[in-house]
Amino acid sequence: MAVDLLLGLQWGDEGKGKIVDVLTSNYNIIARFQGGPNAGHTLEFDGIKHVLRTIPSGIFHKNSINIIGNGVVIDPVVFVKELEGLDQFDIDYKSKLIISRKAHIILPTHRLLDAASETAKGKAKIGSTLKGIGPTYMDKTGRNGLRIGDLELTDWKDKYRALANKHQAMIDFYDVDIQYDLEELEEEFFDSIKILKTLQFIDSEEYLHQAQKDGKSILAEGAQGSLLDIDFGTYPFVTSSNTTAAGACTGLGVAPNKIGEVYGIFKAYTTRVGSGPFPTELFDSIGEDMARIGHEFGAVTGRPRRCGWLDLVALKYACQVNGVTQLMMMKSDVLSGFKTLKVCTAYNYKGETIQHLPYNIEAENIKPIYTEFKGWKEDLTKMTEASQLPSELNNYIDFLEKELEIPIKIVSVGPDRTQTIHR
Ligand code: GDP
Ligand code: IMO
Ligand code: MG
Repeated sequence: MAVDLLLGLQWGDEGKGKIVDVLTSNYNIIARFQGGPNAGHTLEFDGIKHVLRTIPSGIFHKNSINIIGNGVVIDPVVFVKELEGLDQFDIDYKSKLIISRKAHIILPTHRLLDAASETAKGKAKIGSTLKGIGPTYMDKTGRNGLRIGDLELTDWKDKYRALANKHQAMIDFYDVDIQYDLEELEEEFFDSIKILKTLQFIDSEEYLHQAQKDGKSILAEGAQGSLLDIDFGTYPFVTSSNTTAAGACTGLGVAPNKIGEVYGIFKAYTTRVGSGPFPTELFDSIGEDMARIGHEFGAVTGRPRRCGWLDLVALKYACQVNGVTQLMMMKSDVLSGFKTLKVCTAYNYKGETIQHLPYNIEAENIKPIYTEFKGWKEDLTKMTEASQLPSELNNYIDFLEKELEIPIKIVSVGPDRTQTIHR
């Protein structure tokens, strides 16, 4: 069986958690392949809202197995809090949640290093979620990291200590005012590791290989979005992992020729949290309306998300880099009531019209060129069938499908599991 992928095509928060939850009924296994607790994946069902950070979004389905792959970075402290959040749901996570031995561990000092690095950057800061993601991936590629499998060895605390000491020297080097009590942080960290160790650690690439042979269906869940990819995103305002399709191969050990469908998920408009260029960003009342109606506040940090029109140039780029085979358009309901909708179909780049994403997309180089659409007034949130969608929305969808040459198979009309229209 091929492994299907689900990826965000913008700057994250497209609604991946919701759709993975919706799709889980079609899959035996859900596997996260990159990122860490910088992610916040929201699921809503039966009147309950739940935000997952490291745990795959299939966890609420009775028969699903959920894997945290080798490409993920795990903060034991955040992870244990996440487990506690699941307690009320009676989920047997000891049997249905398994962790790759090759996944790297976020140390308390990684979080401190993140804070020190961002403080030192001043105005040029990335706008990191400060969860220690960058420093942990740096230790991974620098070949210094502590991995989940190390916890099964007797000397892992020595390794921990050596790494934490090095980090402290690095924090001092930044010479910024970061207040912390390492002893307190370590107590919490070691307590969390004790709980983490009650879960199953596996060689997940082997497990997934066998599962494919046994005909099990597998969905790989991405975190962040393509424009935050370490290689293809708006560097340096990106995260530290490959959020694009290839990241699923390295983050799970799935061979490229075993990838099946690539589900690309995007909002009907665009949002971004943190710093970095955003060509279609709105600074007017329309942007404020989008933020208000769409409740655009970060699921992890609570920071307001910047809002703007859909950027088709960037979306096309993301579809190409990922090899998207099916699209899902989220938060369509948020656009109800806007008189005119705009889609950026080209850029004016230093005076020239271009239709690709150039190396620099800072505001001083780029002016978006828009195509306008008539909006719709209807409330979409109670609609359940594609036939009920207003003609103006169908025009919007038809235009995007034609431009992207990929079908939009799901139109999401609200945060709840049930507010999902299949086309
Ligand atoms: P993720 O990180 O990609 O999983 O997305 P987030 O959970 O961070 O952000 C998406 C937000 O939009 C969450 O609050 C969801 O509950 C909400 N959401 C998802 N789909 C829809 C939708 O179609 N309409 C509306 N109004 N909200 C949605
Ligand atoms: P999900 O999976 C939106 C952003 C941060 C910052 C940059 C780097 O919920 O879509 P990092 O903490 O990785 O050092 O931050 O990336 N960012 C996200 N934005 N959704 C996310 O995840 C994000 N994860 C990181 O705001 O700009
Ligand atoms: Mg999110």
